[in-house]
Amino acid sequence: MTIQIKPFAAALALWCTLTGTVAAAQDASTIHLDVYKSPTCGCCTLWIDHMAENGFTSTAHHPEELGALKRELNVPVRYGSCHTGVSREGFVFEGHVPARYVRQFLNNPPEDALGLTVPAMPVGSPGMEYKEQFMRYDVLLLKADGSAEVYASVESYQQQFD
Ligand code: CU
Ligand code: CU
Repeated sequence: MTIQIKPFAAALALWCTLTGTVAAAQDASTIHLDVYKSPTCGCCTLWIDHMAENGFTSTAHHPEELGALKRELNVPVRYGSCHTGVSREGFVFEGHVPARYVRQFLNNPPEDALGLTVPAMPVGSPGMEYKEQFMRYDVLLLKADGSAEVYASVESYQQQFD
């Protein structure tokens, strides 16, 4: 009896360990971003704060040639914004992308995706809060071939948060 239960218990323990690992990997607290920005950018720092409030960790970098770095990362100029976040896997998060969409993307990266972008800097996006103003905007999916498509339409301030 115990001989039969033991392998089952061992298998269950292994299964729990594996699924536990998967759950931990998807937990926002384990997601780290390298964020490339200008040292004087205030809204970039506020976006980093927004990410931290949502369980992300970040390391800020201040390269001399931010434009050159974006080119290296294949972020098309027309889809560019102020800062560029890069995940451990090498996915790119350009501009004021809400943490919830970064997490959603990393949990299930679409095929041939480079990352996400919120081009320019819409008022009311995370880090771009100004009074009570909110401007609707789209989070775009950047493809490896340089094209982009709508990943999420953000219609209200509240939609940006879980
Ligand atoms: Cu900004
Ligand atoms: Cu920024």
